[in-house]
Amino acid sequence: MGNRLEGKVAIVTGGGSGIGEAICKKFAKEGAKVVVAGLPEDPVEDVVKEIQETGGVAIPFSGDLSSLANAQSCVELAVKQYGKLDILINNAGTFPETNMLSDFTEEAFDYLLKNNNKTVFAMSKAALPELQKTKGNIVTAGSESGILGIAQNVPYGASKGFNHAFTKGLAAEQAQKGVRCNVVAPGPIDTGWTHKETGPMDSQMEKMVTQATILGRRGTPEEVANVYLFLASDEASYVSGAVYPVDGGTLIAKGPAGELAADSMKKQPKEELDLEHSKESHTSVRK
Ligand SMILES: NC(=O)c1ccc[n+]([C@@H]2O[C@H](COP(=O)([O-])OP(=O)(O)OC[C@H]3O[C@@H](n4cnc5c(N)ncnc54)[C@H](O)[C@@H]3O)[C@@H](O)[C@H]2O)c1
Repeated sequence: MGNRLEGKVAIVTGGGSGIGEAICKKFAKEGAKVVVAGLPEDPVEDVVKEIQETGGVAIPFSGDLSSLANAQSCVELAVKQYGKLDILINNAGTFPETNMLSDFTEEAFDYLLKNNNKTVFAMSKAALPELQKTKGNIVTAGSESGILGIAQNVPYGASKGFNHAFTKGLAAEQAQKGVRCNVVAPGPIDTGWTHKETGPMDSQMEKMVTQATILGRRGTPEEVANVYLFLASDEASYVSGAVYPVDGGTLIAKGPAGELAADSMKKQPKEELDLEHSKESHTSVRK
């Protein structure tokens, strides 16, 4: 166990699967008390149990966090159980389908904005009064596609661009209240979304996204959680309004750069965390 978040209380949205599971386990390992928050169908209870089994402290919250009432209940639970809130991680999101815009349905668009943006609005609004008391911080999930845009999922990239601008505005506004706000912008990560078997990408898109990294591979959920950890900790006391790419160099790649990466770069690092739900996303393909 480390101590980089010793004494801190954190809510992690979308904590039941993928990157969120890694953030919850990483934060608990570093001493935080964690509220693992997700949709009722998410394995948030399992993640809590796994954290407790390794000596960490966590509780579950189940509910649709795009509702302000649910977001408020989630914050109330953290404060009731642990007495305060220091960190909000807005990680919940969805990647509903890959389609040309002409075929992208209105229903998928509404679903995307609800899960990718309204969750960020509702949770940030609900958490701010508590974060102002503790001089805490918010880290929100963006994406390299929120900077570059993404073909065949145009509204997804746009929803992430919203999160980037939302965070910069909030950082500027909340500095006078003592709250820092930042974004983590992942590239292709080894979760359910980037595998044709578990997400909406076909084999061509799957190959394209990894080749478009200069490291020639997907990132691991833990590699992303490491950057969330830094930004959420007091080590990042001079960082606010920043968008941190964790994208294997996608933003600077020209063409299929990943093919040229050294074998050592292409190899995923050995995971320290025991992740059980990294490919269990159920919102990536819209039901
Ligand atoms: N995987 C990638 O390649 C990638 C790349 C860039 C950005 N991201 C971002 O990282 C975040 C996590 O992605 P992931 O790959 O781990 O996906 P994931 O589907 O495994 O995790 C997202 C979680 O959020 C939950 N969620 C969605 N809407 C919710 C809501 N309204 N209320 C409560 N919970 C909700 C889902 O049920 C799921 O458990 C997302 O915001 C995503 O946009 C991921």
